[in-house]
Amino acid sequence: MVAKILRRMMFFEILRFRRTFLVRAFSMSSLSPLASLLKNPSLLVKLDDGHLQSSESTFAVYNPADPNVIVGNVPIMAREDCSRAIQDSHVALTTHWRDGTTAAHRAELLRAWAALIHDNADDMATIMTMESGKPWKESRGETDYAISFLEYYASEAIRPSGAGGGFLTPTPFFDPGSGAPRGQVLAMHQAVGVTALITPWNFPIAMITRKVGPALAAGCTAIVKPSELTPITALALQVLADEAGIPQGVLQTITPDTENTASVGEEFCRNPLVQKLSFTGSTAIGKMLMAQSSNTVKRLSLELGGNAPFVVFADADLDQAVTAAVASKYRHAGQTCVCADRFLVHASVHDIFVGKLKRCVQELTVGPGMEEGTTLGPLISRDAVASVDEKVQEAINEGAELVLGGSPLKRKGPSYYDPTILTNVSSDSRIWKTETFGPVAPIRPFESDEEALAIANDSNAGLAAYFCSRDLSRAFQFSKRLECGIVGINEGIISHCVAPFGGIKASGFGREGSPLGIAEYLETKYVFLNFNA
Ligand code: SIN
Repeated sequence: MVAKILRRMMFFEILRFRRTFLVRAFSMSSLSPLASLLKNPSLLVKLDDGHLQSSESTFAVYNPADPNVIVGNVPIMAREDCSRAIQDSHVALTTHWRDGTTAAHRAELLRAWAALIHDNADDMATIMTMESGKPWKESRGETDYAISFLEYYASEAIRPSGAGGGFLTPTPFFDPGSGAPRGQVLAMHQAVGVTALITPWNFPIAMITRKVGPALAAGCTAIVKPSELTPITALALQVLADEAGIPQGVLQTITPDTENTASVGEEFCRNPLVQKLSFTGSTAIGKMLMAQSSNTVKRLSLELGGNAPFVVFADADLDQAVTAAVASKYRHAGQTCVCADRFLVHASVHDIFVGKLKRCVQELTVGPGMEEGTTLGPLISRDAVASVDEKVQEAINEGAELVLGGSPLKRKGPSYYDPTILTNVSSDSRIWKTETFGPVAPIRPFESDEEALAIANDSNAGLAAYFCSRDLSRAFQFSKRLECGIVGINEGIISHCVAPFGGIKASGFGREGSPLGIAEYLETKYVFLNFNA
């Protein structure tokens, strides 16, 4: 046993030495444009620009602020790489991670990783802004948000409700002979196994740690497949995980390009060694993954699209409502799943609210995310701009009134859209009925609570909803009757590591954050103990 432990320690020492060597070698190589922006260029060691990857082919990641600029070249991984990663993950799970580590040790590793992200937080924010376009301050905020999940689940790992949990109860059975109570019911929580985690481009770091934190804390191993639009942040995160001492095979990041993404997703779904798939992204892809996972009856968490209503009642504090509306609608240029997507404003305060909202939105500073003072960055791509604009023009043709914006901001670059407000929007228009990833606020008036509720619930999405009111009784009633997983009252930013995040209806199922987040990575096994028969 001692020899086995020593052998394992030596193995990890050798790995650590290899990593240190690679990082030093990288620092000595010539710097790419992205690397020259970083205090710690070794975060890019897994990119091809570092001359250290032996990958035969790479794909380019572009800067949304200037889509002609390549941020970095990322090794292309295909289905075979994915299946190898799954095999390695299974080996790591079964040889040491699930049963050979304590929850306290796993917590220690998560904390070490969190500390390294914290030490490199400015650089992580820079990488994120360069590939996702979000304003640097938002990226820096997202980095702290990402760290919070690792710290939270490091603590949760050792709590009875978490990985170490389970319960023992006196038996409900009686011995047929003596009539005395017989045995004990034991329920134990165990790690689900190998997990596949597919994350989106709109939160390049936090959606990874929100999944990996609880997975690793529970004793699962994990393979992350980031969006092909933002893989550099994910690879930098992997560099820090390696440096923190998370053993090889326990956490891996694979980077298929657009062409290979579907087959990698399919491998995750169809490979029987993968026990759980967690996906954040569009409803269409979520449905496809769900169908592909049916053969292996895989456990799933799906955090899919939203179409959040934002209701302003007549008794709302309108200044507070506007602050919440701007925070929710214009964060990351309206490209979050929980963004307010449809505004319903009581007819008696409609014009005042619209006026205040307009003044506030006019104060947003549109520009490249790396520019000081920018509060609204570009959309992720030119295509995104075209799709938003198509919906805006359609709504105007259907009778909506343009209060602000309403067109691409070409003078800023091909991926910018002017922050837009539309009133008198038809509830049949596409901009009302479907999720719009862009800085557009469509507004309609309403007369009664019942009418607002009916319109708010008239959607197959059920992720977030918001409303503003000073009436506590209405707050309870309306929250209960809203068909969604998350409700923000007088508040536009509702995400936090202690809160259960997730949707209902076509927005998916499963929760991330809070103690429920780790339950997604645990199985419950019932064992009957009959030692006193
Ligand atoms: C999302 O849009 O998918 C996540 C948003 C958040 O965590 O705040």
